[in-house]
Amino acid sequence: MTAPVAGCADLEIATLHVQPRHHGKGIGKTLLQAAVDHARASGTPSLWLTTNAENLPAIAFYRAQGFSPVGDTHFSNGTQAYLNHVLIRHLGQRPAAQ
Ligand SMILES: CC(C)(COP(=O)(O)OP(=O)(O)OC[C@H]1O[C@@H](n2cnc3c(N)ncnc32)[C@H](O)[C@@H]1OP(=O)(O)O)[C@@H](O)C(=O)NCCC(=O)NCCS
Repeated sequence: MTAPVAGCADLEIATLHVQPRHHGKGIGKTLLQAAVDHARASGTPSLWLTTNAENLPAIAFYRAQGFSPVGDTHFSNGTQAYLNHVLIRHLGQRPAAQ
């Protein structure tokens, strides 16, 4: 999909979902790292994604993994529009050690 905010590269993470009973075990981080490795290998300078503005756990997760908010967009299901944040990770940088 074309990024809704200027300055994003072509590569989007469209879906990342870990079953609730497996949250907090490092699975999301491992999957995200695999996507980052794939993106780096493809030569793209950055990765972007959107997440619902009310999904605070996901926003905290992405920020911990080096993503930063760069703008907002809306996800529409036809009758309602939901505020989404657009986050980007530049692939020249790694998240701070935790
Ligand atoms: C967001 C999601 C993918 C995270 O996956 P996860 O497997 O639970 O996360 P991990 O165990 O790999 O956590 C990795 C790091 O993220 C951070 N993190 C994860 N959940 C967090 C939370 N709720 N609050 C703050 N930080 C969090 C932690 O700092 C953790 O770092 P650590 O290495 O110091 O432990 C998962 O919770 C999920 O599928 N949620 C529902 C679907 C969803 O919201 N997807 C994203 C929408 S776009």
